[in-house]
Amino acid sequence: MKLGWIGIGRMGYAMAERLAKGGADVTVWNRTRAKAEPLVKHGAKIADRLADLAACDLVFCMVSTWDDVREVIAGPAGLLSSPGKQPKLVVECSSISLEGSAELRELLAGRGVDMLAAPVSGNAKVIKAGRLSFVCSGPKAAYDRALPYMTLIAPSASYVGEGELARIVKICHNVFLGVVTQSLAEITVLAQKAGVPRHAFLDFMNQSVMGSTFSRYKTPAFVNLDFKVTFTPKLLRKDLDLGLDAGRRYDVPLPLASITRDLVQSMIGRGMTEEDFAMLLVQHAQASGVELTPENVPVSDGLG
Ligand SMILES: NC(=O)c1ccc[n+]([C@@H]2O[C@H](COP(=O)([O-])OP(=O)(O)OC[C@H]3O[C@@H](n4cnc5c(N)ncnc54)[C@H](OP(=O)(O)O)[C@@H]3O)[C@@H](O)[C@H]2O)c1
Repeated sequence: MKLGWIGIGRMGYAMAERLAKGGADVTVWNRTRAKAEPLVKHGAKIADRLADLAACDLVFCMVSTWDDVREVIAGPAGLLSSPGKQPKLVVECSSISLEGSAELRELLAGRGVDMLAAPVSGNAKVIKAGRLSFVCSGPKAAYDRALPYMTLIAPSASYVGEGELARIVKICHNVFLGVVTQSLAEITVLAQKAGVPRHAFLDFMNQSVMGSTFSRYKTPAFVNLDFKVTFTPKLLRKDLDLGLDAGRRYDVPLPLASITRDLVQSMIGRGMTEEDFAMLLVQHAQASGVELTPENVPVSDGLG
């Protein structure tokens, strides 16, 4: 199949890179073209216009919010902007709402285009390590058609059913991500203030039953204070807001998500926007009167 790719940001770059390196015939488009150019050395082609991707069989989309997805797909210069020209299948990977996803499916169906909702778990480093996972919903036949290409990007793709079900799975996942990160920040600061070095504390936690792939790969940031962004506080706030909206829609209280959302908002209000969301640690240290300095101890991120 001829593949198209929309959105070469942190995630899109690493995902499209795996497709191109895997030998797929892929043409990419990014609003800021320069970010896509390094992919040419891996065999990807670059499209000048989104509408050029309408000639592809399958188009992946990985941008930021639902408004951005709508713009790149259905906007005046979007994927569908040339009348009578459209791909057969869109695999939409951005983290967006159930409602946005349903609107997109309807919009694409109006042009005879199938859609697979396929958000992901993992950051760019996780993608490079070959540990990303997709969660997918939509027509099973669309999943089967996309699977060989998703497998080039990630070893795991779970099919959870029809419609937009994958979106709620991803929203729940990121609510958990926010809450767990805040909790890890709180207990790390508590342990440090009581006298335990962060690397020693996290070494134990990572080996305990509470340790996880996630706690391990955030350990270098927590120990050595490298907050180079993997996922921005604003994107995390978007996902916590999506979780709280879903909680209201389904009448499910989400007290921990609610508190975490406001703590992420505080971080954004204090200007912590250009660094990683793991800066929740720094915010909590400030709230606790703890001075953080890098421990400069080599620690594994568990990703190999
Ligand atoms: N980072 C993570 O760890 C992670 C993990 C799982 C899921 N996600 C989700 O994946 C999505 C992408 O995240 P990311 O971290 O890759 O974000 P990012 O680095 O900020 O990249 C965003 C991408 O979207 C493009 N874009 C945004 N608005 C656009 C618009 N209106 N028109 C055209 N292009 C637009 C950007 O183009 P420019 O380059 O021109 O700005 C860029 O290619 C988000 O929905 C996020 O929640 C992220």
